[in-house]
Amino acid sequence: MLPFHQIVKDDFSAVNQLIIQQLHSDVGLVENIGQYLVEAGGKRLRPLLVLLTANALNYQGKSHINLAAIIEFIHTATLLHDDVVDMSNLRRGRPTANAQWGNAPSVLVGDFLYSRAFQMMVTLNNMDVMAILSNTTNKIAEGEVQQLVNAKDPSVTEANYFRVIDKKTAILFAAACEVAAVISGANSEQRKALHQYGLHVGIAFQLVDDALDYISDAETMGKNVGDDLAEGKPTLPLIHAMRNANKEDADLIAQALRQGDASQLPAILKIVQATGGMDYTLDCAKQQVAYALDQLSKLEINAYTQAMKELAEFSLARSY
Ligand code: IPE
Ligand code: IPE
Ligand code: MG
Repeated sequence: MLPFHQIVKDDFSAVNQLIIQQLHSDVGLVENIGQYLVEAGGKRLRPLLVLLTANALNYQGKSHINLAAIIEFIHTATLLHDDVVDMSNLRRGRPTANAQWGNAPSVLVGDFLYSRAFQMMVTLNNMDVMAILSNTTNKIAEGEVQQLVNAKDPSVTEANYFRVIDKKTAILFAAACEVAAVISGANSEQRKALHQYGLHVGIAFQLVDDALDYISDAETMGKNVGDDLAEGKPTLPLIHAMRNANKEDADLIAQALRQGDASQLPAILKIVQATGGMDYTLDCAKQQVAYALDQLSKLEINAYTQAMKELAEFSLARSY
């Protein structure tokens, strides 16, 4: 368990119980796949953000437990779909659901989780929360489609890359904080600050993820190294490297991207390191965490905002 879990550990176990309860379905396959994913764990950062934010604002009700489970369901649904699209076969240290059961069950159980999240949301009877989460899921889908369009295209710009990670990843972190702010009766400044905090943490998180895809290992990450290159994803380490390398090296990367060919991974990693692509990506992530902490400083300091600071720092320093 990460250190910043400790402070919300009772809420956190309530969320885990609710997740298991809400996975229930009369169709056995739905439950099997759902349980398989839940048992594998995951970092649960997004539900933690809900819990920490609500507690930071001294929320006294129980809806934050529901919201945390809802956010984790949405996240898990996107992972199920994402692993089909990306043809990934390792997630959370285990074969992906698509590797285990095939694409069709993964897509359909992803739909089950999405719609279960919306069923749970309706019971909260809060139009602002509905608006935030429906807009968020729509933007995530848009981000994933944009990423699909960008695949195997070495001319994708840095600005385009940032638009994708904003939508596919950061916006859910932002929503986790914002919905917790809404149910806690936050004023508009607090709500905005928390949205921005989540957004910047999410951007940093994805930047680091895109770096780890080149420099980590499968055992530590629970996902395969080099997947992004195999999928032809023009992520920031490569975009920066292609901008700064000599023509021959830039062409090598462009060609690997066009073909979704990971066989040149060691050579490409060398070019990325030599051109400062990895440092650049991690510096961008560091900058995003600094922005996130600026937003946090607008709130009253307490043990929960301190944990949120640690969570932001973890998203930068993490190795998995
Ligand atoms: C994976 O998210 C998807 C990305 C946004 C990179 P996490 O790394 O938070 O996934 P789990 O839930 O911990 O497995
Ligand atoms: C993560 O996509 C974002 C979503 C799942 C919406 P990635 O493809 O970058 O993340 P991993 O590497 O599969 O976890
Ligand atoms: Mg993926």
